[in-house]
Amino acid sequence: MDQIYIYEVGPRDGWQNVAELISTEEKKKIIDGLADAGVSHIQICSFVSPRAIPQMRDAKEVAKYCVSRYPNIDLLALVPNLRGAKDAQEAEIRHLSYVVSLSESHNKANINRTREESLQELENIMEAYPDLNICVDIATAFGCPFEGKPKEGELAKFAEQVYGMGIREICLCDTIGAANPRQVREEIRRVEKTCPELELMVHIHDTRGMGLACTLAAAEAGVTKVQSTLGGLGGCPFAPGASGNTATEDLVYMFQNMGYDTGIDFGRLLKLSKYQKSVIQGNYSGHHMMIQMMQEYGEKGDGQICTAR
Ligand code: COA
Ligand code: ZN
Repeated sequence: MDQIYIYEVGPRDGWQNVAELISTEEKKKIIDGLADAGVSHIQICSFVSPRAIPQMRDAKEVAKYCVSRYPNIDLLALVPNLRGAKDAQEAEIRHLSYVVSLSESHNKANINRTREESLQELENIMEAYPDLNICVDIATAFGCPFEGKPKEGELAKFAEQVYGMGIREICLCDTIGAANPRQVREEIRRVEKTCPELELMVHIHDTRGMGLACTLAAAEAGVTKVQSTLGGLGGCPFAPGASGNTATEDLVYMFQNMGYDTGIDFGRLLKLSKYQKSVIQGNYSGHHMMIQMMQEYGEKGDGQICTAR
């Protein structure tokens, strides 16, 4: 059976764009639900300026809780700078997503730095914390709200630069859901050709309804790590027009029915998504409708689609 590793990033990417502050207790409860559904890779928070993202004000407490409770789950935190990496290290988070945009203008809007400054900071982090496992999240990898589509070869060139610094894992992030499946396939091919040793992950927003198609294109191009959010919640507050992520339940449904092993209990995940929707107001992707429909008909996600029973 083919294995696909689903990285749930809702507690960071999903919640960061929710205006109303979610209580720390509620956050813990939903993360417990994810663990209970068998999700084994979770991006639980970001260590960023609380002025930039007020929702992450309790990142330390959330991280501490998860580290003590879930030693067997791969817990990730997103950081934009050395200060964030220091906080992550202190919270005993071992796996970081270091975010830098392919486009200069989005990096400036998001991190208030040039790309060069961000790469210099990455070097500082690697020097200060050589034991941390760092995945570089390349934001706006397929399109930028300020600059449009990247030029041919730009992404692969940037990946090569990051690889040259000693990074061995990158995540290609479609921050504003601008990619199409062919573009995803071709860019992956280019990156692999330039850096065959680099581990790849994808993170595709569903802004234009391409989330599932682009994620599948990545999987069929050989990528085994894919990111998504419960309910398809999410978006970057510093990317105009950004909206929901690909929904985790949609990915689980699709991959399981295609014969992939996700290790995730679909029924539990649906129930949790429904619960999250009842307690958190936000911009869910269109596909979360699946939750109501499938629960109403008692579908188990096993491909048995007869609703007239
Ligand atoms: N965690 C918490 N606080 C931080 C921080 C971090 N990682 N990095 C900086 N700060 C604080 C500083 O201590 C300083 O606080 P003070 O004003 O009370 O002294 C303040 O933030 C400004 O610091 P500075 O280094 O000048 O940062 P900045 O204003 O240029 O902002 C970032 C840069 C990266 C900190 C900010 O833009 C940010 O947090 N961006 C994250 C964006 C994000 O999460 N986007 C979505 C995910 S992709
Ligand atoms: Zn995102």
